[in-house]
Amino acid sequence: MTALFQPFRLKDVTLRNRIAIPPMCQYMATDGVVNDWHAVHYPALARGGAGLVIVEATAVSPEGRITPGCLGLWNDTQAAALAPIAASIKAAGAVAGIQIGHAGRKASANRPWEGDDHIAEGDPRGWATISPSALAFGAHLPKAPKAMTLDDIARVRADFVAAARRARDAGFEWLELHFAHGYLGQSFFSVHANQRDDAYGGNAVNRGRFLLETLAAVREVWPEHLPLTARFGVIEYDGRDEETLAESIELARNFRQGGLDLLSVSVGFSTLQANIPWGPAFLAPIAGRVRAEAGLPVAAAWGIDDPQIADGTVSRGQLDLVMVGRAHLANPHWPMQAARALKIDRPTWVLPAPYAHWLERYGTR
Ligand SMILES: Cc1cc2nc3c(=O)[nH]c(=O)nc-3n(C[C@H](O)[C@H](O)[C@H](O)COP(=O)(O)O)c2cc1C
Repeated sequence: MTALFQPFRLKDVTLRNRIAIPPMCQYMATDGVVNDWHAVHYPALARGGAGLVIVEATAVSPEGRITPGCLGLWNDTQAAALAPIAASIKAAGAVAGIQIGHAGRKASANRPWEGDDHIAEGDPRGWATISPSALAFGAHLPKAPKAMTLDDIARVRADFVAAARRARDAGFEWLELHFAHGYLGQSFFSVHANQRDDAYGGNAVNRGRFLLETLAAVREVWPEHLPLTARFGVIEYDGRDEETLAESIELARNFRQGGLDLLSVSVGFSTLQANIPWGPAFLAPIAGRVRAEAGLPVAAAWGIDDPQIADGTVSRGQLDLVMVGRAHLANPHWPMQAARALKIDRPTWVLPAPYAHWLERYGTR
């Protein structure tokens, strides 16, 4: 058996293999509630054989949505509608995960295919944004956020807790805190977004405080036997990389001590002045370093859609889980094809029995 198709156990949850589908916003919701699109999309992904399917960034409050089409978990209607999605992912043999987050200064945007920019001032679809400091991201996201007060910080932390509780009650078994990609959590950590001079800004300990406090608060409501994970941009590729990485690894150690079970290693995306070395599995060596130095299981995405490369990241001990995103949108059966490419003849462990039985008899090619 290849490394990629070894089961992975974390707390009381076992994934059937090391392939995970990372959160990917669909921007198709109304009032944060899932609909028929999500009911088609998520089980289709899960049916393809991945061990874990993480539902897209789901906002902890209305202001925390990236776009008006984003999912939410700030009310019980949203949670009730998500329960069948979690159940359908499970029915297809995958573990159902969900990412909860707050978009911070990148909130109040148009959907990617409608501009990907901030909703214009005065447009009733838009809303005021918040961030650690009143600094705009810039370029297509020019809106200046309001600098968060200590009350705002406490409120957002409580929103994360309430959303985590609802995710748990909706049947999700894997929770990912969105601390990445230039959204609110990442903005607290990033020197590009955080110029506070209180306990939440300045040195790396202070810049990590909101993330650690949010983790601690969520840990209290998220069941101890289920994985609590986070996605975090450990590097910006802004020329300050060794310093950022050292700070990130120290924060990852603190995450581990605070009860985090796995870190999904990603890029910060907090500045436009970044020079990202796009290429197949470019983050895997960095994720491997975080894994070794922070002592946490890790996952990573970005351009890992070649089965041999994916398998290599696991067998070399860089990744515990390989996140395969866009390749799954193109082909939900990516895991089955990866099994073939890796010369695994019996795909029974990526297919439910009613398919496996007939496909084995009649051939899968
Ligand atoms: C349509 C789309 C939506 C995305 N939405 C999210 C999201 O909700 N949360 C997140 O952390 N990353 C999001 N991402 C990033 C993906 O999780 C993933 O990191 C990225 O697609 C790179 O992996 P890949 O090369 O396998 O596609 C999104 C990416 C795409 C293409």
